[in-house]
Amino acid sequence: MDFRKKLIAGNWKMNGTGEMLDEVRELLDAHPKPKYDILICPPATLLAAMSSLTAERSILTGGQDCHHEQAGAHTGDISGQMLADAGASFVILGHSERRADHGETDDNVNVKARAAIAAGLKVVICVGETLAEREAANTLEIIAGQLAGSVPDLATGANLVVAYEPVWAIGTGKVATLEQIGEVHDFIRMQLEKRLGAGVGRSTRLLYGGSVKAGNAAEIFGVSNVDGALVGGASLKAADFSPIINALDAAS
Ligand code: PGA
Repeated sequence: MDFRKKLIAGNWKMNGTGEMLDEVRELLDAHPKPKYDILICPPATLLAAMSSLTAERSILTGGQDCHHEQAGAHTGDISGQMLADAGASFVILGHSERRADHGETDDNVNVKARAAIAAGLKVVICVGETLAEREAANTLEIIAGQLAGSVPDLATGANLVVAYEPVWAIGTGKVATLEQIGEVHDFIRMQLEKRLGAGVGRSTRLLYGGSVKAGNAAEIFGVSNVDGALVGGASLKAADFSPIINALDAAS
């Protein structure tokens, strides 16, 4: 399978209470029959409500993290099975904020990914270098290590998405250059092909994330091996997110 359906994912992070579902209603109206996969990952508290709003319609929902077990004595945690039960079809794993705030390692992400896939979810595994790592010219080495550690062997083009999110570009307004994005995305594709085989490598969708907005989305979508975006701040309002979705048309 060579074909990759474009994917625009919104990561609401720790933002959003019930009234923000209005933004989703607005998006549903604006994109009744999208050619692309549109995914929103709200806080877990909104997942079931959002999923019932979007069920059978044009927006997919996902979690922002999950535990590596499906159930048990883990106060405060949420399992892949629970996310699926609340209507999620995806889960973001290994976001740099989780790696930084909760000390998540590649091994943690790997076991979570296996549990999520076992629960029937698709995983969006995040990788990305810090500014210090980029300045030390270690970017590709860091990305290779994160991919090798975080992506489980059972990943396929149908259950894996990789998001390249340079840590220094997240929420900062700084966007990687098109050249930097292209270099890393080509590299990720190559690594996946080498490790998981050409079929899996070629069919896995690769997203760019880090200060994506309406004004820069189209040019980013024009970069080779960019199959969409993982959007934080600009996914919170339909008025900001919708033009990013439309920018895929310009790039296709
Ligand atoms: P940002 O966040 O778009 O606000 O930079 C991206 C992300 O963290 O996924």
